[in-house]
Amino acid sequence: MLRLASLVIRPLIALVGAVILNMAGNGIERKNCVVRNGIHITKQLNGKQRKFNHEIFQNGTIKEAKEMPNSTTKRKRRSKESFEKVPLCTAIMTYLGFYLLMFLGYINRLFFTPKVAKERNREGYAPLYDRFESFYLQYVYRRVRDCWNRPICSVPGAEVVLKDRMTPDYGWTFQFTGTTTKCLNLGSYNYLGFAEATGPCASSAAQAIQEYGCASCSPVQEFGTHPLVVELEKLTAEFLGVEDSIVFGMGFGTNSLNLPSLISQGCLVLSDEKNHASLILGLRLSGATIRVFKHNNMKDLEKHLKDAIVKGQPKTRRPWRKILIVVEGVYSMEGSIVKLPEVLELKKKYKAYVYLDEAHSIGALGEKGRGVVDYYGCNPKDVDILMGTFTKSFGSAGGYIAGSKHLIDYLRVNSHAACYASSMSPPIVMQILTSMSIIMGKDGSLEGERRIRQLAQNTRYFRRRLKKMGVIVYGNEDSPVVPLLVYMFSKIGAVVRTLLERKIATVGVGFPATPLMEGRIRFCLSAAHTREQLDMALDVLEEMASLLGLRYSQLPIPDDEVAYDDELE
Ligand SMILES: Cc1ncc(COP(=O)(O)O)c(C=O)c1O
Repeated sequence: MLRLASLVIRPLIALVGAVILNMAGNGIERKNCVVRNGIHITKQLNGKQRKFNHEIFQNGTIKEAKEMPNSTTKRKRRSKESFEKVPLCTAIMTYLGFYLLMFLGYINRLFFTPKVAKERNREGYAPLYDRFESFYLQYVYRRVRDCWNRPICSVPGAEVVLKDRMTPDYGWTFQFTGTTTKCLNLGSYNYLGFAEATGPCASSAAQAIQEYGCASCSPVQEFGTHPLVVELEKLTAEFLGVEDSIVFGMGFGTNSLNLPSLISQGCLVLSDEKNHASLILGLRLSGATIRVFKHNNMKDLEKHLKDAIVKGQPKTRRPWRKILIVVEGVYSMEGSIVKLPEVLELKKKYKAYVYLDEAHSIGALGEKGRGVVDYYGCNPKDVDILMGTFTKSFGSAGGYIAGSKHLIDYLRVNSHAACYASSMSPPIVMQILTSMSIIMGKDGSLEGERRIRQLAQNTRYFRRRLKKMGVIVYGNEDSPVVPLLVYMFSKIGAVVRTLLERKIATVGVGFPATPLMEGRIRFCLSAAHTREQLDMALDVLEEMASLLGLRYSQLPIPDDEVAYDDELE
């Protein structure tokens, strides 16, 4: 009940707050001469305001002041990221729609609870499942349940074959019809198009089965170290430009099982608010104190860093044992790219560590496909812990952690994932070895380069054409994850279903994976998509934008012609 009340009241308060904020505008003036936490000091020198910066150490000592560069003289970089705000009337309609759904759900449950909705054999027991979650799943999410959990029966390449289903009872149960539908696949994380049933990756994986079988049946610390695992760890380190790496059978487990080996009580984690569930689980398991900073907001991150150093641990006021900043390369729900150079600057300034999850950026970003580090031209050795998965750009499974030899040696001994989980399956490793070698050009061809370039071109083209339609698209121009905002819960269902009728498979994302008001359709682009396929999808989307009222953007529509082979910056 409390949860329900908070769900109803909090957004209402937020809504009223948003209206008030909108009316208030941004015109709050700050005083110029401030000493904040004793760190930045603005002084009058020779009649001019000049800003000084003190270098701070984790034990709280403050070193000599250095003058900071005048911000007005800094060259402004054009922002490639956009997060247009929801129009007020859409926000109101979205909330009203959601409450109406909830209200109808309660009426429905009161009078027409079908048998499948009741927990069986539970007399005398407390309910096993959370009451609100059960209600939400059964009476709100069920209405659009057909848009999710779609079984497929082909490789998730540029096209994918879906198994057709029907529901005889409005989404409570589903039955297969025995038919299938081939669709353009805009929903899989197949960034470089290596999810293929034929070709060098598939045939080398099949060959690996003949030599090593499907599984090692043992963790690395026992008999799980087969030569392919050793080769993959070496190649991954070479690909990323660091000393060493360690690989695991599952990307999710790479985060959730390794973070507790690196941090514990007395450590502080500064975690981006949009971080993935695997990171959040790992951080919670570690017992460290977690503070969440606003998404990709460097001012907020710095504020937390200063605060942590000046105040230390609560109660004791002792310095934190270590401070770890946890960020992702590309955020898979927002389509944003981490501001890595600024994170690294802050890390150095405040002597904190950085854990970078490149699940969606490795392969997909950078001239050489080496992720967000490559994209910004940063030094990979500046990132203390590089993490990534093989499930996306490499068309395989598993995850890695890479960095200094010392770090990897430590994890080999202390990581639960290394000690207790079975090592990677040989064909899975072979798929990664082959695709990574192609990306690195070790096969002697330009295929890897071609795929990286094609993904970048597809991304720019698709995003620019969507922007021209007047729809709201979140994230960075260079991000192959493209969230198209539809806001309302009902529109997520309508768009996914209509696209499916036109043979386009996509993924809808709504509450609780996104804020209540920010329902969206998430397109994942791939190097496997051809321009013709993208044009087909864009033409359908153009039609739907008018039909379903998706043109929410209030920004001026760019009038330049969108060419496919635009020179990439
Ligand atoms: C940022 C991030 N980290 C980790 C994972 C987990 O990886 P996997 O799906 O390979 O288990 C994901 C999954 O999508 C992710 O988005």
